[in-house]
Amino acid sequence: MRQLSREWRAAGKKTAFVPTMGALHDGHLALVRAAQDKADRVIVSIFVNPIQFGPKEDFASYPRMLQADSEKLNSLGVNVLFAPNAADMYPPGFETYVYNEKRSDILCGRFRPGHFQGVLTVVSKLFNIVEPDFALFGKKDYQQFTLLKKMAQDLCFPIEVIGCPTLRDPDGLAMSSRNLRLTPEERQLAPELFRAMQMVKEALQGGEKRQKVLLDTFTQELQRFPAFRLEYAEIRAALDLADFGETIDRPAVLLVAAHLGSVRLIDNLELTGP
Ligand code: PAF
Repeated sequence: MRQLSREWRAAGKKTAFVPTMGALHDGHLALVRAAQDKADRVIVSIFVNPIQFGPKEDFASYPRMLQADSEKLNSLGVNVLFAPNAADMYPPGFETYVYNEKRSDILCGRFRPGHFQGVLTVVSKLFNIVEPDFALFGKKDYQQFTLLKKMAQDLCFPIEVIGCPTLRDPDGLAMSSRNLRLTPEERQLAPELFRAMQMVKEALQGGEKRQKVLLDTFTQELQRFPAFRLEYAEIRAALDLADFGETIDRPAVLLVAAHLGSVRLIDNLELTGP
């Protein structure tokens, strides 16, 4: 992989990289198209990274469909599908990890100990193997995106990390490989999460700046649908994820996670500043 990437660089070609865990949906394919607009060559990786799943999480049941994924990427004209196996990525004796001291343990990290260490570690390995000029990530995983952007900066990876907008189904549900595991009833209910989030944005745009009132707007709306088990809903500063005091007075993002049946849904919404 690295040899090919270096040959392309020597020939003056720019490369863009889209790391994924497979089960590709239209959101991933939009990342691939954005990568194609950005660079001469596009590399997609598919690797269900064991070290970013907790012991009670869905590593075993995470959807795997390499053949179908590879056909989708072929039809888009992706240059390389890089699909390493776990034994090569983590040989016996592997013991070095990447961690963000400030932001790995907030939001999703509070409920998924070790998750972001697993993500930062695998992406830094992939960056070192693929050596791309650009790397593209969906902003659906907003915390992940900001952590990876900061990692590239802090650890001097010569790679531009680009965040792309979340793709949604027509009813508003953010696209995710895990949506495949929702039952038909849950799938019908799932867009209520985003609808409740939009109410926060509308309230802020209507002049409500008190953080507590804005968050109450969201939780009270979601409570109308008891099938959701809310994990967290927080308003944080855009990009650096800093905490707000009482008042939302800078560009902000609402980040939420909720369980619906056996599926953990996450979503976020960039809120226009007051
Ligand atoms: O977002 C994902 O699919 C994964 O967290 C990533 C970035 C490919 C790392 O395994």
